[in-house]
Amino acid sequence: MKWLDYSRFFNLSAKHRVASLLRLTAKDSILNKSNRILMGGGMPNPKVFLMKEGMITLKDGRTIALPPALMEDALQYGASDGYEPLLKQLNSLTKRLHSPPCWSNSQILVTAGIQSALCMAIEIFIEQNDYVVVEDPCYCGALAIMYPYNPRFLPVESDADGINPEKLRVALSKWKPEQARSATHGVPKFIYTNPNGCNPTGGITSTERRKEIYKIASEYNLIILEDDPYYFLQYREQKDFPPSYLSMDVDGRVLRFDSFSKTLSAGLRVAYVTGPRQLVDKICLYQQVSVAHPPSLSQIIISEILRTLGEDGFLEHTKQLQKFYRDQRDAIVKAASKFLSSLCEWSVPEGGMFLWLKVRDVKDSLGVVDRALKDYTLLIIPGSGFVPDGAKPCPYVRISFSVVSPQEMEEGFRRLASAIRAELEENRKSENERNHSERPELIRRV
Ligand SMILES: Cc1ncc(COP(=O)(O)O)c(C=O)c1O
Repeated sequence: MKWLDYSRFFNLSAKHRVASLLRLTAKDSILNKSNRILMGGGMPNPKVFLMKEGMITLKDGRTIALPPALMEDALQYGASDGYEPLLKQLNSLTKRLHSPPCWSNSQILVTAGIQSALCMAIEIFIEQNDYVVVEDPCYCGALAIMYPYNPRFLPVESDADGINPEKLRVALSKWKPEQARSATHGVPKFIYTNPNGCNPTGGITSTERRKEIYKIASEYNLIILEDDPYYFLQYREQKDFPPSYLSMDVDGRVLRFDSFSKTLSAGLRVAYVTGPRQLVDKICLYQQVSVAHPPSLSQIIISEILRTLGEDGFLEHTKQLQKFYRDQRDAIVKAASKFLSSLCEWSVPEGGMFLWLKVRDVKDSLGVVDRALKDYTLLIIPGSGFVPDGAKPCPYVRISFSVVSPQEMEEGFRRLASAIRAELEENRKSENERNHSERPELIRRV
C-alpha cells in the first residue's frame, strides 16, 4: 500500500529535528539485557537507590507487587516510546477496540498525559499564522497550545451531535481540494476534535457526521487529531459507541489520543497516541528532547494493573466507571431542572464530565462566574475559555459533575441561581441608569 506523503504537514522544527543519540543508546541498554556492559548513558546506579520494593493494594483487596527487580526498572530511565510490556498491552487493546485498517503502518507512543501528546503533535505541525480547524466550542487545553502561534482559527460549530460537517465544508471553501496537496496555499494541516463527551459540550459526534468529517479530511488532505480521553465515559451501551476515527482511517491521517487519566489515575500521567508511524516517529523525536520518556514508575504501575485485571477485567472496570458517571450526569441534570430551568438552557450530556449551560439574558457569562465565586463561593468556568476567539462574549458556563455529590449539585445550583438573578438585577439597574442619564441629552436634542 502507498502511504500519504506526510512532508506537507511538518513545520521547520519538526523537519530539522534528528534522533537523540543518548536516547537511542538508552533504548538499547534497556532492551538488550544479555551479556551487556553499560558504559553508555548516565544511568544512576541502582545500588544506591533508596527505594527497594513496593506494594499497591486495590480497593477490592487485590495486591500489586513491585518486587526489587521491577522497582529498579521503575526508578531507572526508560525508552522514549514507552515501557515495552505496556506498549504490548496497548497494542492489543487498540486492535481489539478500534481494529485500525492501517494497522501494519501504525505505531503507539506512550506519553505523559494527553496534554503532553497534544502539545507535541500540534507543535510538529503548526507555524505562525497558520489556519487551523478546531471545533467551536473547543477544549481550552488544546487552544492554549495553539495561541502562541497566532493561528487564524477556522472554528466549526459543534453541538450535542458533535462537529458539524456542513460548517466544516463552509470553513474550508476558500480553498480547492487540489490545493491541499501542496504546502504553499495555506490550507490547514489538521482538524482538532474531541468526539466523545466533548469538553465542554458533553456531545458525542454521530457516526454519520464522523463519516462525513473523515471524507472531507481526505478531500482536503487534513490530519484528524482525535482527542478521546472520555471514550469510556459515553453513557450509551458500549456496543453502541460510534466508531472512532482511527477505526475508519484507511488513508493513515488520524492521530488518536487515549488516556488513563479518567480510567485509572490522572496523577500518574500516562496516555498514548496511535497513528501512522511517520507521524508518531516525529512526535517521539520531540518526546526524546522534552520529557525524554514518560515516568517509568507510572508506566509500570499502569502495566501491572492491566496485567492483574486482564484486558476483560479492565473493560469491566470501565463499565463500572460508565455507570458511576452516568448516575452523576443524571443527578446534575435533575438538579439543573430543579433550580435553573427558568434561567438557563442545556442539552443533556451524552458523555464526559461536563454540563454546558447557556445563561439566558446575558451576553457574556463572566459577570455571573465572577459573582458566583466572590459572593457565593461557587467555582465554575466561563464559556469564553472554550471559544477559539476568546475575546468574543460567550453566555455559557461549564459545570463539572465529576466530583460533587448530589447534595452539592443542588446547593451549587441554588447558589448559581442566586448569582444569576443578582447579575440580571444589576444589569437591569445599570441599563435603567444609562437610559436615565441619556434622557436629558435626548430632551435637549429634541
Ligand atoms: C478533551 C481533553 N483532552 C485532553 C485532556 C488532558 O488529558 P490528560 O490528563 O491525559 O493529559 C483533557 C483533560 O481533562 C480533556 O478534557
